[in-house]
Amino acid sequence: MRISIVGTGAMGLLFAYLLSKSEGLEILLLDNHPERAEKIRRDGLLVEGVSGEHLVRPRITVKPEEIGPTDLVILCVKSPDTYEAALNAKPLIGAETGVLTLQNGLGNLESIEEALGRGRAFGGTTSMGATVLALNRIRHAGWGETIIGEPSGERTERAEAILDLFRLAGIEASFTDNLPGLLWSKLIINVGINALTALTRIHNGRLVEHAGTRSVMKSAVEEAARVAEALGIRLLYDHPVEKVGSVCEATAGNIASMLQDILKEKRTEIEQINGAVVREAAKLAIPTPVNETLLGLVKTLEESYTERIRG
Ligand code: PAF
Repeated sequence: MRISIVGTGAMGLLFAYLLSKSEGLEILLLDNHPERAEKIRRDGLLVEGVSGEHLVRPRITVKPEEIGPTDLVILCVKSPDTYEAALNAKPLIGAETGVLTLQNGLGNLESIEEALGRGRAFGGTTSMGATVLALNRIRHAGWGETIIGEPSGERTERAEAILDLFRLAGIEASFTDNLPGLLWSKLIINVGINALTALTRIHNGRLVEHAGTRSVMKSAVEEAARVAEALGIRLLYDHPVEKVGSVCEATAGNIASMLQDILKEKRTEIEQINGAVVREAAKLAIPTPVNETLLGLVKTLEESYTERIRG
């Protein structure tokens, strides 16, 4: 079986490493960064952290036509780049190829289908933790569950196939028939954690130790949960604020992905996380002042990298 992974950030490289251990699987990485692709091709991919120290040599290219059609595509780019990355991945798509997104935020399934056609995309979430240390080096920061679902809710062959592959690779994986509920449940966690870490530059665990961040987190999460409820979304947990607090504790040492982006002076997923809540709320006339504030502040951070006053 041929599996292509599009996007070679921390999560793409982690899944490439984990899947590359399984026999009979050909893993092909599509990068958009020639220097990184060359480095990984030349020196291999180094993984350290909770799964030990490893050097693997996945096939990697920046040219999708060198890969050609694959059985499954796993899209791991940042959510603002989904549409472009999916369009660029066209040569990887055969008649039956499914495209799995495990990205943060809302709108990824829709962007993939817009680029590649209806019925292509299925989705999920992962709470696996990883950080990029160098072009060809990542830290596997923590194991976590990966949950997969189909927009139709059906347990399809492609979902079964990916669950088997993930389990063979040692990834804890399960299926849900409630994909919108899964995506919103993860969204609300990101709503409560990501922007706050980006603005305060602290680890996830510290957010619940400061009264200020605890209070903003509670309001942001309650706003998002109200929108989910109005949309008729069935969340996977009953108490959103408590759930987000427990994720902070479980990932206490993590540098959340949005803070990693800010530290590297990159575009963040704020539009697909707090921005998505604000946009959905506006359609329903639900006020979301805290999410609007977080959105405005993180967008300003992104737009002002070159203006920053350094102490
Ligand atoms: O985006 C992230 O970093 C993760 O989704 C989460 C759950 C916030 C943990 O760091």
